[in-house]
Amino acid sequence: MDNIQRRDIFMGMDDSVDSSSKGMLQTKEKENTTSKNSSGLEKIEQGAGRVRVDDKSMINSRADVNQLVPIKYEWAWQRYVDGCANHWMPTEISMSKDIYTWKHPTELTEDERLMLKRNLGFFASSESLVANNIIFAIYKHLSNPECRQYLLRQAFEEAIHTHCFQYIVQSLGLDEGEIFNLYREIPSVHDKASWALKHTQQLDDPEFHTGSMENNRLFVKNMIALYVCMESLWFYTGFAQVLSMGRRNKMTGIAEQYQYIMRDESLHFNFGIDAVNQIRIENPTLWTDSFEKEIIQMIHEALELEVAYAYDTMPRGLLGITAPMVDEYMKYIANRRLNQLGIAEEFPNITNPFPWMSEVVDLGKEKNFFETRVTDYQTGGALDWGE
Ligand SMILES: [Fe+2]
Ligand SMILES: [Fe+2]
Repeated sequence: MDNIQRRDIFMGMDDSVDSSSKGMLQTKEKENTTSKNSSGLEKIEQGAGRVRVDDKSMINSRADVNQLVPIKYEWAWQRYVDGCANHWMPTEISMSKDIYTWKHPTELTEDERLMLKRNLGFFASSESLVANNIIFAIYKHLSNPECRQYLLRQAFEEAIHTHCFQYIVQSLGLDEGEIFNLYREIPSVHDKASWALKHTQQLDDPEFHTGSMENNRLFVKNMIALYVCMESLWFYTGFAQVLSMGRRNKMTGIAEQYQYIMRDESLHFNFGIDAVNQIRIENPTLWTDSFEKEIIQMIHEALELEVAYAYDTMPRGLLGITAPMVDEYMKYIANRRLNQLGIAEEFPNITNPFPWMSEVVDLGKEKNFFETRVTDYQTGGALDWGE
């Protein structure tokens, strides 16, 4: 449970823990309204002094970003190490049982086929959207080399996830255009992608740079849109849908791949929340009451979009999942994420409608459950990860 414990320490799951004891580093807020972030590609300052830890910061740093050490944010480095330890490749997972099930005339209901295709379509484009956001928006403005080291690892994992959907589509003989173009054809999937993109596009402007409080806030909102709303909320409906099939011994190869994706995504969104909290610590005036209200509003919008997606993918409900249950599940997760961000829970009296999801995160158990070929992808460290 190393990850969970560490996350709890960093993320303030315990409200009594103040920021200084969460492993977050306090630094003096910088007033910086004019300078651009260092990309690392500027002319080398020959003879310049060595990097000091105190010179490093999450955004608007003036320290050389080409020097990883000395490391200031151990939590970022640890996420990079954990991500590497979790390496896996989709093609190592057999799809033979899934191919039989998919091609069999009665093994799956029409509702299950519809859900699966739309689920795959949502993820297929979302993985690329997240990857592009990392490369074109977050990487550029997160001016810390250990965070960038993690982003490079995350970007590769997003490539593996995109590969996963190509592998599934190819294995099952699905219409690749139908799946990969789905986000331009199914309104609820389109609406989610558009909403996330809205928060990325502002940062894609070549004239955008952090430094002013307004732009610092836009950057943080981008991180919340992608890391919290997309990766930690929307993705979990998708995981629940497919893992619910896996629990019933259907499409177990896809379900196993989703387990590995889910483990990766858990690291992704926890990194994103760590990063937001660290930026907040270093820029305390950034976080006003009205800014917090904007973030809560984003969460509400994300939930509304997700319920529409739930109805589009499961018009009649299936496999013990209905759209109202998805609504409750999203609220349950949102409460936890808000908690991690130091924001009061927004949705009272919510319980987890899918308690079995907590068990599915235990890879060892589920491998046996799915009766798939077992490959331990862990190359070091612990297998546990947070939900
Ligand atoms: Fe991903
Ligand atoms: Fe991700």
